Amino acid sequence: MEFDLTKLLRTNILNLVPYSSARDEYKGEASVFLDANENSFGSPLNKNYNRYPDPLQMAVKTKLSTIKGVPPQNIFLGNGSDEAIDILFRAFCRPGIDNVIVLPPTYGMYEVSANINDVTLKKILLTPDYQLDMEAIAEAIDENTKMIFVCSPNNPTGNSIMREDIETLIANFGGLVVVDEAYINYSRQKTFIQELTEYSNLVVLQTLSKAWGLAGIRLGMAFASEEIIEVFNKVKPPYNINEATQELALEALNNVDQVNEWIRETIRQREMVIAEMIELPFVIEIVPSDANFIMVKTTDARGLYVYLVENGIITRDRSKVQLCEGAIRITIGTPEENVLLINTLKAYSTAK
Ligand SMILES: Cc1ncc(COP(=O)(O)O)c(C=O)c1O
Repeated sequence: MEFDLTKLLRTNILNLVPYSSARDEYKGEASVFLDANENSFGSPLNKNYNRYPDPLQMAVKTKLSTIKGVPPQNIFLGNGSDEAIDILFRAFCRPGIDNVIVLPPTYGMYEVSANINDVTLKKILLTPDYQLDMEAIAEAIDENTKMIFVCSPNNPTGNSIMREDIETLIANFGGLVVVDEAYINYSRQKTFIQELTEYSNLVVLQTLSKAWGLAGIRLGMAFASEEIIEVFNKVKPPYNINEATQELALEALNNVDQVNEWIRETIRQREMVIAEMIELPFVIEIVPSDANFIMVKTTDARGLYVYLVENGIITRDRSKVQLCEGAIRITIGTPEENVLLINTLKAYSTAK
């Protein structure tokens, strides 16, 4: 389908003259920097953070580029992927006029961001096996539908969405298809970031908060065409990724082997937890998971949740969410944590 980014963008964003920071206007080396009203004496720390960080985070993007096989100019970095989601709404959706499609049960921030930006949500429930209802999605699209959010592997259900369905959406929808791959490292499916050259309306979200173990430093990624990344860069706050985060991310990105080992172990542990839990009398079903968590349908989600809290184990009660009736979502922990979880659950089953 014909895709014209300038038609999709809000006019005020198309015409926006972005803020030009000191570090945009002079990028070279110098011995004296008196252009950004920083404190030239230093910082009251062991390390100096008195200078503004690189607005486009080129060192981090260059490193990510070698890991992901995507050029730096196709990468946007945000203060968590939540920042990328918010920028998408602000850049593409006219408040009170445009709409987006979300596919519940799914990650809650798409809805919150839509509400903050006064953008209508069209909710098309997943099918009972948590796949896309392609017919209903096609019917919901109108001329003001700007984005469709597909979370794969999906939170809170844990399953991947069928690749062919996502491809059909991208190929046939005139707006943006945003594929949220926060949990892709645990998935049997391959990422969509290699498809960026083929599709100009594709945005892929990933994050360092999950498999990379860096939720605390807040670094999310969006991968898209250069044109779309330019839009992100225009709209973002000038220095959205702080210097400490950039330094820590660069250091962490050298430890791919450690991360891959954790991913393999988490997947092994996931299968172990599933095998043990499925035997418990109060477990009805466990949704096949491609993530670092499982959604477990039980006979009594609330009772189980409260019992686990009383035993110092915190899970997520999702039983009030449509299509997740009776379900709790459990993150896969360390082997010790998982053994404790299983033993605690076995005691519940005896107590019942
Ligand atoms: C599907 C999904 N996308 C995005 C995020 C947010 O990630 P970040 O920490 O990068 O903002 C989460 C966090 O739980 C998530 O589950």
